[in-house]
Amino acid sequence: MGKPLKHVLVCTQTRPPDHPRGSCAAKGGMDVLQEFMRHFEQKQLWGRFAVTGCGCLGACGNGPSVLVYPEGVMYGGLDKDGVAAIVEEHLLGDKPVERLKVPAEVWG
Ligand code: FES
Repeated sequence: MGKPLKHVLVCTQTRPPDHPRGSCAAKGGMDVLQEFMRHFEQKQLWGRFAVTGCGCLGACGNGPSVLVYPEGVMYGGLDKDGVAAIVEEHLLGDKPVERLKVPAEVWG
């Protein structure tokens, strides 16, 4: 396997329901991961790009969180439309999606 051009990390962290930080799993992190995988299959992105489910990325309050390297761009509050935008604009277009980034005070 060659080194991917970009690597998408999707937080699927779980926590107890009463935990003060909440969790991306409770906010749909697994759905976001599945949606990235659906796009990867449909557009045959495997090999050029990589997507990996992971534990907490630190931006829990803005979840579900996604971090894209090598740029180190943190996205938050993603849904299906957000995933589609990241795939089209950031992965394929090489231009981070400014409107979906978490605030600079969270990750900047
Ligand atoms: S639980 Fe997802 S960023 Fe912390």
